[in-house]
Amino acid sequence: MQDNIEKITEEILKNKGRIVALTGAGISEESGIPTFRGRGGLWDKYSPNLYANIGGLIATFIVNPPKVVNFFVEVAEVILHAEPNQGHLGLAELEGSDILKAIITQNIDNLHQGAGSKNVIELHGNAYQWKCRRCGKKYKLSTKELGEMVQRIKNIKISRWGLSNKLKEIAPTCTCGGNMRPDVVFFGELLPQDELDRAYNELEKCKLLLLVGTSGIVHPAASLPSYAKASGARIVEINKQPSSLTSLADYFIKGSAGVIIPSILERIGNN
Ligand code: OAD
Repeated sequence: MQDNIEKITEEILKNKGRIVALTGAGISEESGIPTFRGRGGLWDKYSPNLYANIGGLIATFIVNPPKVVNFFVEVAEVILHAEPNQGHLGLAELEGSDILKAIITQNIDNLHQGAGSKNVIELHGNAYQWKCRRCGKKYKLSTKELGEMVQRIKNIKISRWGLSNKLKEIAPTCTCGGNMRPDVVFFGELLPQDELDRAYNELEKCKLLLLVGTSGIVHPAASLPSYAKASGARIVEINKQPSSLTSLADYFIKGSAGVIIPSILERIGNN
């Protein structure tokens, strides 16, 4: 590992300003947010067939509304209480030193922005952002507003009866009168095209891609490293275990993002 970190530090210094990071749930694990897959992951507790797609969520909501409400409240509360860790902070420092150009993330937890990163491309949306199902208008909630919404939802007594009225109480209403939904991507939905375009644009120019804490299973995000490689980038992967993208990586460092990223920064500081 030592050897790899030295070589990666050299690669990073050589490609200053032309480096992009692609992050997944693993980078937020040390902030207390469970990953999706593996033991203890979110999909271990909640079946993705029911909770990761709108059809499944609606069906579950009709049969057992409190289950869906509990799922929403649990995810929102974990995100609300999470703080950026050394991995997020390290990437923000790399951007501040004009080494890292952009972060493309699959995470919806806003922790890269919380750490101070500016050029963050969110492929799967953001838990603080809601959008109107009727007019498409978007609203970004503050931590306080999301916290108040979660508290309000927790206080609603929900049963199958009068469900449509309760739905109006649960989801905020837009100024146009339409119902709002979280602006996050569920399985089977298209990724936001503007974010995807920004990601491709950054990857075409990048010379080094840092893959941090993703299993590389969910497409189209999982196809981006091949795109970067075909455009001429070398790939560094940081993960606690090999992923389905490891065969593409030029360097693999096994370990936690919150440990490995600061140790790379330390070496950059010594150069
Ligand atoms: P996964 O849960 O699939 O994978 C997390 C990865 O992070 C695994 O490869 C772990 O080994 C690694 N990992 C865990 N802790 C780590 C740590 N401290 N440091 C470094 N690596 C660590 O999460 P994603 O790949 O982000 O999409 O999942 C991709 C998408 O699947 C998510 O955005 C979500 C999910 O279903 C949607 O819901 C649309």
